[in-house]
This record gives sequence, C-alpha cells and structure tokens, in this order.
Amino acid sequence: MSADGVRPVASVSVHPTRREVCVLGLGYIGLPTAAILASRGHRVYGVDVNETVVRTINEGRIHIVEPDLDIMVRSAVETGRLSASTAPSPAEVFMICVPTPVNHATCAPDLTFVEAAARSIPPVLRQGNLVILESTSPPGTTIRVVGGVLREAGFQPGRDVHLAYCPERVLPGAILRECVENERVIGGYTPDCATAARDFYRTFVQGEIHLSDCTTAEIVKLAENASRDVQIAFANELSLIARRHGVSVWEVIRLANRHPRVNILQPGPGVGGHCIAVDPWFLISDTPREDPSVMRAARELNDAMPVRCARLVASTARECGAKTVALLGMAYKADIDDCRESPSLAVLETLRREAPDLEILCCEPNVSALDGVVLTPLAECLSRAQLAVILVAHREFRDLAANPPPNMNFVDFKGVLSDR
Ligand SMILES: NC(=O)c1ccc[n+]([C@@H]2O[C@H](COP(=O)([O-])OP(=O)(O)OC[C@H]3O[C@@H](n4cnc5c(N)ncnc54)[C@H](O)[C@@H]3O)[C@@H](O)[C@H]2O)c1
Repeated sequence: MSADGVRPVASVSVHPTRREVCVLGLGYIGLPTAAILASRGHRVYGVDVNETVVRTINEGRIHIVEPDLDIMVRSAVETGRLSASTAPSPAEVFMICVPTPVNHATCAPDLTFVEAAARSIPPVLRQGNLVILESTSPPGTTIRVVGGVLREAGFQPGRDVHLAYCPERVLPGAILRECVENERVIGGYTPDCATAARDFYRTFVQGEIHLSDCTTAEIVKLAENASRDVQIAFANELSLIARRHGVSVWEVIRLANRHPRVNILQPGPGVGGHCIAVDPWFLISDTPREDPSVMRAARELNDAMPVRCARLVASTARECGAKTVALLGMAYKADIDDCRESPSLAVLETLRREAPDLEILCCEPNVSALDGVVLTPLAECLSRAQLAVILVAHREFRDLAANPPPNMNFVDFKGVLSDR
C-alpha cells in the first residue's frame, strides 16, 4: 500500500534492459548519469532549461569538469544514444536531477526547480512510466511535490505510474565510478514502485541496492550529510581550541585517532559545496529556533569559520608585515573545479571588507575564470605574495610541502604543510 492507500495495478510495462530514459537537469549529477545510461545501451533524452548546456552537449562536449566525462558524452552523442533538448520527450523512465538550493536568508529549502521539472513531465507521461527524483530533497518532497504534480495531472502514483526517490551519493571527481559502484537506497511510493526502480537501476548500478519508502530514503541522504557536517564542526572547533593553546590540531587529531573507537575528521576554513553545507537545513528548517539542535549549532559554527579564518590571516599579515596575500584554492574541496558555496569566497569577501589595505591574490588551478574574482597563477602568487594561505588541499598545493618557497610565510588551514 502507498501513502495514499492505493493498490498497485499489474499493468505497468517493464522492459528488461534497454529503455528510453529522460534525464531532467544535466549538471554534475544528471550529465554523468545520462552518459552512463547511454553507455549501457539506453536511449537517453537529456533535458536542461539552459540552452547553452543543451547546445554544448549536442555538440558532444561538456560544460563541467569531471574526469573522463568528455569522452563518454562524445561517444554517447556520436552513437545517437544521447541527445539534449530544453523539453522532455516521451520515455519510459524520467529522472529528475535538478538543483535543490536553500534560501540563504531563511535557510528554507527552495523546491521551485523540482516542482518545475516535475510539471514538465505530465505532457509526455504515459501509463506505466517510472518517475524518479534524484535531487537531494527535504522529507516528503517525493510524495508531496512530485507526487502532487502527477496526481494533479491525473496520474495516480503506484497505480498509473511508478514513483520513487533515489538519492545520489557520488563524490565529485569520481562520479563515473561511484555512480555505478556505490550502494543505493531506493524509496518507493509503494513497494512495487521501489521494485520497478530497482530493476531500472540494476541496468547500470553494481553496488548493493536497498529498498525502502520515499521519506525514509530522503532522510537517509540528508542524515549522511548532516552527520558529516556535525563531525566537521567538531574538528573545526578543535582547531580553534588547539590554536588558542599554540599546538597543532593535526597532531592532536592524528594522535586521538590512534584510539580504536575515535575517528575525528579533518578541519578546514569552513564547509562548502551545495551538499554538506546545505542539506542539514532540509532536516532542521522547521525545528523551532528555541529548541536545542546539534545540527543547527554545527551549521552555525561551520558558517562562522571563514570569518574567523580571514581575521587570523589579517592578523598574521600584520605580524609578518605582509602587504600581499595569496589565497590558495577557491574550490570548496580538493582537486575539483566546483566553487559553489566555497568557504574560500567567504574568506576573500571578509578580507576585502575588513583588511582593505591588503593586496589579495587568488589562485584556483582547476578553473580558468571565476565570477567576481581575478585568478592568478600559482607561480605568480608565490613570487608576489609575502603570505600564502592554504585554503584547499589541491594537488598543486600539496606539492609545495616537499619544496616550500624560501622566505614565504604560510597560514595553512588544511594541514598540507604539516605531517598529517
Ligand atoms: N553535485 C554533487 O556532487 C551532488 C551529489 C549528491 C547529490 N546532489 C544533488 O543532485 C541535485 C543536482 O545537483 P547538481 O550538482 O547536478 O546540480 P547542477 O546545478 O550541476 O545541475 C542542475 C541542472 O539542472 C538544470 N535545471 C534547472 N531547472 C531545470 C528544469 N526545470 N528542467 C530541466 N533542467 C533544469 C540546470 O540548468 C542545471 O544545468 C541536487 O539536488 C544536489 O543537491 C549533487
């Protein structure tokens, strides 16, 4: 039985392997998924509201950085198994992979992209189709938002169409491998919906697949990221305590982790990206402000880190007489090009506001341009600055540990220069 108490009808069409699949949202999640599906023989109709993205993909090129994705997309387009468009085509499976940001002012989830994507499906939807939400979503989104749109259009989930939630757990930089190898949790609107979605994922996923209901699967995904946020907040707080006592937090953590049941994560200048820094809000946005919340405390501590780090950089610059400071790493984590919600940008903004006399150079080896930031190559940063601030443990900066430039002052928020 589903949330609505509907009994599934057995008339749903199931094709054993090759399907027509419509992937809505061709970003970091949707495009690799579309390319993998095409490589498994499915006919994939990619959909994106961004015409530049559609054009780029139809030319066999990509608009994001992900190892080997360019080769897969080119081959998928050349073999005619992947094409992109701004509107959905009829298909057997619809996968929604659109953004689910949080409203910065209110910390409330913004589900307008999910709703818009869901609304674009019914005109091409047919009885027996499978609709899957992959976007990270607050509890209840699959049933209320996507299910609501389908019901409004006359399709009862579990009876007329299958509906399921299947979150993504991939690591940027390893998406093509993890999309196939990771274990999956699939939440079905009904048990039948979960089984139908599992049969589809089995065509390209090698990891174990666990079946559950939609809301449980939504909370599982959010719990994974909220748990990491809380653990990173702990490491960040520890870094502030260690600094006050003049000791290395890296050594503290390394030694504490020798305990058989302790596993402290690594601190940094904050938590960035659009997952860990965002997803906890999906769980607590409706928790009353006056209720104690470890997740809220962690979010607030992690959000406050960039300002604290910027102030430390400004005071170090004063102490060592540095007039030019190089910020090394603008992405939100090591060895990727994604600068969304990066703490480095908040460090930069705070320095520009609170230390206007400092000349600040920014280095990000993984991108060629960044809105509102002039990027400077690493070699030039190291020759012009008197203080270098390691904000991200990119490979290029890790290499500095072996051969640090003489006479350079460092503030290292990632333990790159320490013996971790
Ligand atoms: N990027 C990650 O590493 C990651 C990991 C796990 C989960 N997720 C989740 O996956 C979802 C997608 O994230 P992403 O990083 O791929 O986002 P993204 O911003 O890279 O891509 C989303 C794409 O959707 C398009 N889009 C927006 N509205 C649309 C609509 N109505 N119809 C069709 N296309 C539309 C956008 O133009 C964009 O190209 C989010 O919920 C995110 O939280 C992302």
